[in-house]
Amino acid sequence: MKGLILSGGRGTRLRPLTYTGAKQLVPVANKPVLFYAIEDLVDAGVLDIGIVISPETGDQVKAAVGDGARFGARVDYIPQDEPRGIAHGIKISQEYIRDDKFVLFLGDNFIRDGIVKQVAAFRDNAMNAQIILYKMDDPSSMGVAVLDGEGGVTQLVEKPKQFISPYAVIGIYMFDHHVFEAVNSIKPSARGELEITDTIQRLIDQKLTVRAHLIQGAWIDTGKVVDILEANRLVLDVLESKNEGQVDSDSRLEGRVVLEKGAVVVNSTIRGPAIIGERTRIENAFVGPYTSIYYDCTIQNCEIEHSVVLENSKISHLSKRVADSLIGRNAEIARADGRTQTLRLVIGDYSKVGI
Ligand code: TTP
Repeated sequence: MKGLILSGGRGTRLRPLTYTGAKQLVPVANKPVLFYAIEDLVDAGVLDIGIVISPETGDQVKAAVGDGARFGARVDYIPQDEPRGIAHGIKISQEYIRDDKFVLFLGDNFIRDGIVKQVAAFRDNAMNAQIILYKMDDPSSMGVAVLDGEGGVTQLVEKPKQFISPYAVIGIYMFDHHVFEAVNSIKPSARGELEITDTIQRLIDQKLTVRAHLIQGAWIDTGKVVDILEANRLVLDVLESKNEGQVDSDSRLEGRVVLEKGAVVVNSTIRGPAIIGERTRIENAFVGPYTSIYYDCTIQNCEIEHSVVLENSKISHLSKRVADSLIGRNAEIARADGRTQTLRLVIGDYSKVGI
């Protein structure tokens, strides 16, 4: 069995971060969300992994993942010229997948309990496709599956206007070779994409066996800011303390805190769960629960909690606490010099500032 991870796309919902970076590389507890997908595949015994990349962010993904050896995997890259849909990602991967069964994993999806059981079920039982479902009170913004009562899928509807079933289809799917006939037959939707929902519906219409696996544990599509904060919370909740940095005698680490190599804490309190990245400096500051500060950052004379800060950013001398925030790479937040009531801002397109 092979793996296929989609790591291209537009990422419009995560602007401005996606102007300069791949959304799949946004860190959750200081690890790119894409790495969780790779690890989930490897844990399930899927070691040959193709990653679909875009012209804009493909090089970053390649630089981060490499040949996959550090994950115990063999990774190949499949360039997609434009985001023409999830099913298009399958279509261009036919030569890579060949006749193998495969797991399709959307590179921004996060599943807490991994996919070992689902992969085993697909391997061991006769079926042509398996979709993973997540029960929701209101799945109306998702693809929704109607079931036959015995684990078989009878219909898929994209964003149903009326309630037809509580089972949302999440971004992890398993297919055999029949899926290639389907992706080569369907036509682009109104938004111009080859849709995964149409692909699976085509398999059902062809009387192929499509089965569902309902998951109980958490699943998050990290395509939006709130979802990244939620995934960050979930991972930090099971974090174990580790200290590979330096803490001076005026500082306190409370609860579960990870200090990565070269992190420095001076005259500060860190109340976990929290993780402080490599070479990051925390000085005269308070870092509160559910905060991940990535590498080479400075947090100085300020307070921050329930937030994710990307690499090489600096937050300093603030009179208000930063909370519920996602701060991009190389960003700087500091008190404006001069008049105390002044805000002096240089904010990228599509940024959001709450004051
Ligand atoms: P989406 O989140 O559905 O799409 P998107 O990345 O374009 O984001 P937005 O809606 O915010 O504009 O994509 C799911 C995953 O699949 C994500 O990891 C990107 C990837 N993808 C591709 O690699 N190629 C594609 O053509 C599409 C549509 C998505």
